[in-house]
Amino acid sequence: MEVETERLATKGCDSMQDTQDIVERILELKKEHNAVILAHNYERGEIQDIADFTGDSLGLSKQAMEQEAEIIVFCGVNFMAESAAILSPEKIVLLPEIYAGCPMASMITADALREEKKKYPDSAVVCYVNSTAEVKAESDICCTSANAVEVVNSLEEDEILFVPDKNLGDYVSRYSTKKIIPWEGYCPTHNQILVTDVIKARKEHPDAEVLAHPECRRDVIDLADKVFSTTGMVEYVKDAGNEFIVATERGILHKLEKDNPEKKFYNVSEYTVCPDMKAITLESLLLSLENMQYVITIPEDIRVKARLALDRMLKVKRSR
Ligand code: 13P
Ligand code: SF4
Repeated sequence: MEVETERLATKGCDSMQDTQDIVERILELKKEHNAVILAHNYERGEIQDIADFTGDSLGLSKQAMEQEAEIIVFCGVNFMAESAAILSPEKIVLLPEIYAGCPMASMITADALREEKKKYPDSAVVCYVNSTAEVKAESDICCTSANAVEVVNSLEEDEILFVPDKNLGDYVSRYSTKKIIPWEGYCPTHNQILVTDVIKARKEHPDAEVLAHPECRRDVIDLADKVFSTTGMVEYVKDAGNEFIVATERGILHKLEKDNPEKKFYNVSEYTVCPDMKAITLESLLLSLENMQYVITIPEDIRVKARLALDRMLKVKRSR
């Protein structure tokens, strides 16, 4: 028994050393290649910790543009790395796990959108950034969860074809007089958060405020105290109360807890995991920098059109 415990203890030490070695090697290669690491707020804690910048989709798109580094290692999912490649064509954008996708982004194709547009010739197409470059290229303007209301209200058209997130589209419709025609897409991680989860969490933590992401269903949003993008949550809790129930992907708790060690955060349920956001590990980040993989490239004709939709979004001023 003692021998076994000793062996386990040694194994623990070894793996800690391994992790430390990997971290050091990543930092060396980052310097050597003049690279910068960006990580979304849902990434694994160790990936967030090693990143130069963490943030939401909007913040990371802007960071990618402002960086002087030649290489951007994007720790997120495919559409985020694509956005960086669209906005910064002069840089090399790497996504460490090529299969890190977004199920919601896969719920619409450019062909299907082209067909839908024929039905609504007078509509403007607003496309959530959680979409492929091809779908962005077919859209008039992009939005993120942080600016969707402002983007929709900035448009002249009274009718909006909103793709691909029906929940975000529904959320926007509450703050706009425009007619929103939603696409039938959704985020599986947010859509499975139910009213019963919120009620249960509130019973367990009666003093906590409920923060929800606008990708949640309407009935969940109705029970929330506040609705924010992930960075919106990070900003809000700084000056708010002491306890929060968080209705979004659980990776955000790492940042919330790190920034506010004196406050308490609870996941709304045990199922709030996006597997794609957990795909990147320290090992795959190291391999990415060692082998320059996986380079995200967008055909130039698609990139130019998708860029117009992103640029239009970036010009919209936030009012809230
Ligand atoms: P935000 O960080 O922009 O709120 O992103 C939500 C999301 O689901 C990204 O996949
Ligand atoms: Fe896509 Fe949802 Fe995962 Fe975000 S959390 S990457 S929207 S599936």
